[in-house]
Amino acid sequence: MKLSKKDWIVGGVMFAVGAFLYVGTLKKLGNDVPATAVHQVFYQQLQQGGSRIELEKGCAECHEIATLPSSHPHKLECMVCHRLK
Ligand code: HEC
Ligand code: HEC
Repeated sequence: MKLSKKDWIVGGVMFAVGAFLYVGTLKKLGNDVPATAVHQVFYQQLQQGGSRIELEKGCAECHEIATLPSSHPHKLECMVCHRLK
């Protein structure tokens, strides 16, 4: 099949939309975690090679998923999106 001009345009638009969404997800990472002692311990342990998955279970003990805004991502990857201030 020969690619027509229209095929290239459709491909280009799809690429642009994909790139736009990708940049959007990078930007919309979570707000910063306050630099309180409670939170600092978590990020120190992560730096020292602690398991992120295990640490994040600790986050959920105080921040239950149910208490987060309904628009909030339903993922237990807290520390990927929320960085220490
Ligand atoms: C011991 C309980 C506790 C644990 C564990 C905990 N937090 Fe918190 N977190 C709090 C409290 C209390 C506040 C609000 C205090 C403040 O704003 O200074 C808060 C605030 C936050 C905020 C800011 C919320 C806002 O409105 O801006 C984020 C984001 C957050 N925590 C994420 C995390 C993440 C991610 C983890 C795990 C790495 C975690 N917390 C672990 C108690 C906890
Ligand atoms: C995919 C990225 C992502 C992940 C994963 C994520 N968050 Fe968030 N979080 C956000 C964004 C974006 C906001 C701000 C938007 C909003 O309020 O809905 C937010 C807001 C918050 C807030 C503030 C809520 C408020 O009342 O304003 C807290 C606390 C929080 N997250 C904790 C957590 C915890 C704990 C986890 C892990 C169980 C987690 N987040 C996982 C992106 C993420």
